[in-house]
Amino acid sequence: MALIALIVLGLFALAIWAHNRPYRRLQDARALVADARAIAAFDIAAVRLRTVDRLTLRAIPNRRLVEAFGIDNSFTTTDSKRHTDFLTQATRKIQSVNSKGWARLFDVAQKAMGLAEAHVKSESPGAGLQIPLARLVRILTFVTVLNVLFGVKPGDIAIQDVVTATDLINTLWMLSKDCSNKSLLAMDKQRLRMTLDHMLRTLGEPGGDERRLNPLNLIMPAYETLWRVVLLTFLAAAFRTSDPDTVHWFRDVMHSVPSCFDRDRGSTGEGDAEKIALAFAKEGLRLYPPTKRIYRGPLPGGPQRRAWRADIERCHRDPAIWGADALRFNPLRFFLLAPDQKSAYMPFSVRPHECPAERGGFGERAIMLLVVVLARRLGTRESGLLVRFNDTVLDGDDADMPLPNARDAAERWVVVEQ
Ligand code: HEM
Repeated sequence: MALIALIVLGLFALAIWAHNRPYRRLQDARALVADARAIAAFDIAAVRLRTVDRLTLRAIPNRRLVEAFGIDNSFTTTDSKRHTDFLTQATRKIQSVNSKGWARLFDVAQKAMGLAEAHVKSESPGAGLQIPLARLVRILTFVTVLNVLFGVKPGDIAIQDVVTATDLINTLWMLSKDCSNKSLLAMDKQRLRMTLDHMLRTLGEPGGDERRLNPLNLIMPAYETLWRVVLLTFLAAAFRTSDPDTVHWFRDVMHSVPSCFDRDRGSTGEGDAEKIALAFAKEGLRLYPPTKRIYRGPLPGGPQRRAWRADIERCHRDPAIWGADALRFNPLRFFLLAPDQKSAYMPFSVRPHECPAERGGFGERAIMLLVVVLARRLGTRESGLLVRFNDTVLDGDDADMPLPNARDAAERWVVVEQ
């Protein structure tokens, strides 16, 4: 009798546990998001922090970027004036691409694509026309970003300089995480600077201002955030999706970008075509946020031993918040976000130091501009695009799962020309 009562009680407890499980998961997810937002917003002390304190907490985890790239910008400085000046400079560059500017930038990106494609094909003529995707996207993004930031025309650039610069940025980023080989790092850093000075004709003045004049101050936040999310969004939208609605909408996006970005053509506000295009960028940024984690501190000698870490990628993928299809590329979800989803979505961080590329939708438009240039040139799965990942799991897997987004994950991915 006692045994039966025990079993009934056990089953009852199990039922309550199962019943409350989704609720507990949502509570945990909300706590994760609240924590991430607080860290990103520098809400980590009992008192409100001054600007200089916030800059210090951000500069500490970014010290490796100063060593690897010799940069001095909003991410690395502890000087409030330098921070404001740099932010103003970056914002002006971004705002220089106005309504009409998107059509012009699209032409620039198409020319950049032509250069990139010709180069990667010339590099491996005997490879049976397999185009290395990561390299192609890096060159495309870099040349387009140089135009926005420095007004450089694609035709005026020596492609070999671009290849050297993008390869060195990649190498230095890896070395910055494992700085055991300091002399290699210093040599590559110097080569990168010389290549950029040659390309942009910005001869660095030796002495105090060298870091402030470093073109990488602007290039790094723009190019490094863009190239991987462009590559992954292109693959998700043009090759991996199996959802007929997404395929249909992407076909429309390929025709509407860049003209849908021209505010003067339509009525006021975002038109439907633009909203759909931006939803693809938002979904790319959700699944593949360029800043996967935001780190703050720790202050030397303070009670906190390790940096505070806001896990943006986890907030963007939590099924308790995003539903059972959290890992699926589904841009149309952005037409109706629940309050929990709005709060969990922060690819550009949050106030008071949110990214200037969020305002006015610069980041999202830039992503879609490049994605559409790629899709128009290389095609989509429907039009015969064939991508080989050279990885048994990825080549045979469920295409609705996200692609790996580590820095070096894409190095073996190729487009096979038929
Ligand atoms: C899709 C593209 C981009 C994404 C996802 C992105 C993401 C971010 C994130 C997460 C932060 C906050 C970092 C932190 O506080 O630790 C940030 C800040 C910043 N970003 Fe971006 N970014 C993008 C493009 C750009 C571009 C094109 C520029 C222009 C050069 C830029 C300039 C900046 C600057 C200056 C800040 C510092 C803002 C401040 O301190 O108040 N970003 N970005």
